[in-house]
Amino acid sequence: MEIFHISAECYPMAKVGGLADVVGALPKYQNKAGHKVRVVIPCYDTKFRSVNEFERVHFDTLNLGNFEFPFSILKETTDQLGYELYLIEIKELFDRPNIYGYEDDIERFLSFQIAALDWISGLENVPDIINCHDHHTGVIPFMTKYCYKYENLKAVRTVITIHNGLYQGWFGFDKLHYIPEFNLIHAGFLEWNNSLNSLAVGVKCAHAVTTVSPSYLNEINISANGLESLFNSVRKKSKGILNGIDIEIWNPFKDEMINENYSVESFEIGKQKNKEKLCEQFDLDSSKPLFSFIGRLFEEKGGDLLPLSAALSLSNNFENINILILGSGKSDIEFQLEQLKNDYSGKYNVYIGYNEELAHLIYAGSDFILMPSRVEPCGLNQMYALRYGTIPIVRRTGGLRDTIIDFGDAGNGICHDQASVDDICYSINRAVKLYADKENLNKIIIRGMNADHSWEKVCEEYIEIYNLIIQKDEV
Ligand code: GLC
Repeated sequence: MEIFHISAECYPMAKVGGLADVVGALPKYQNKAGHKVRVVIPCYDTKFRSVNEFERVHFDTLNLGNFEFPFSILKETTDQLGYELYLIEIKELFDRPNIYGYEDDIERFLSFQIAALDWISGLENVPDIINCHDHHTGVIPFMTKYCYKYENLKAVRTVITIHNGLYQGWFGFDKLHYIPEFNLIHAGFLEWNNSLNSLAVGVKCAHAVTTVSPSYLNEINISANGLESLFNSVRKKSKGILNGIDIEIWNPFKDEMINENYSVESFEIGKQKNKEKLCEQFDLDSSKPLFSFIGRLFEEKGGDLLPLSAALSLSNNFENINILILGSGKSDIEFQLEQLKNDYSGKYNVYIGYNEELAHLIYAGSDFILMPSRVEPCGLNQMYALRYGTIPIVRRTGGLRDTIIDFGDAGNGICHDQASVDDICYSINRAVKLYADKENLNKIIIRGMNADHSWEKVCEEYIEIYNLIIQKDEV
């Protein structure tokens, strides 16, 4: 089968969040399973772009309404990724340091989608499947079906995978002319609540909709930032597929980014050595349990609950614990987290920013990882943590609900129901008690380390859906 994944992010070329990890891993395993898989993302000004070799395989000019943008297709040539990576270089729009957050994001990502289809429609073989990811690629399923210029892509089956339904890519009807010509009879597919909504377009027009966990699919049928009734109406073509993790990159036995490698047989010594390194780096106490948070500091992830939860937990436990935070996001949350350093020095620290290498060391050297998310479509951190023998403390939601069971029910982590300071502190207290009961603690760690969250299993579920929609006559 010929498959294209089209996305805004792909690790290691460009990463903001878990979307990049998924788009950097799933294709590799689909490729291994014998399919021809290509990944297409915009060409940003990133380190990966500057240190790797690319070959220009196509050059053209795209039209976005009255604007014209020259673009190139660059192919990564080293074969290091396990799939073919293509970058769409539109210098005026993407040769910038950040991936998102510009005023012209709508123009940027529409141009990206148009360039992708201009190129793909000119290839000798059109693909069987185009798998789109999130709203940045949501208009593609409409364009392949209805835009005259992509007539030869009409039969291509499209899937939209939802990693985060909160962001939807709205824009006004004044920009309708950006979309290549189509019969206006189909304009209804573009509209949601009096505007054009990229995610809604994808959900309406794709042949299948997937979410990154089964529980998240249930949740967006109830609450989805205004799209819940739409999700209800497409239930029949929707499926929740729990993400996997790349067990080659996330392997404590081989990981070069950590201080000491270890396996399930040697985790006690291995983890302690990583903890010592981490504690030395951040002025923490390696003889005490270490609770960490890694992620974006937004309400969605419960980031706003961290400062007070940290302060109360440190005080209530007479500072017999350590807390370490790695992340960036809202400036008021960052500020409060920075402030706490003054009150709890030697027991608390924070690193504001994104640091992939440090994240690996934190998984390896922490005892517990905090995930108090309000919304978590899947969550990968809890699976990375399990693999590194670190116990997840999670709020039961989305993919966290599907992967973590409370240790009281013979599970692999600690769970609470509310995204609240009370619940987080209560879970931390339970964790402190558990930490003192080494026998039980180790049992839970071993259970987590032995769990199989590899993509091999999961990637088959995607192929099943692709086959299903290919076999259906209706286009
Ligand atoms: C988004 C979601 C996260 C998910 C990831 C990969 O970042 O917020 O829950 O794990 O995408 O699908």
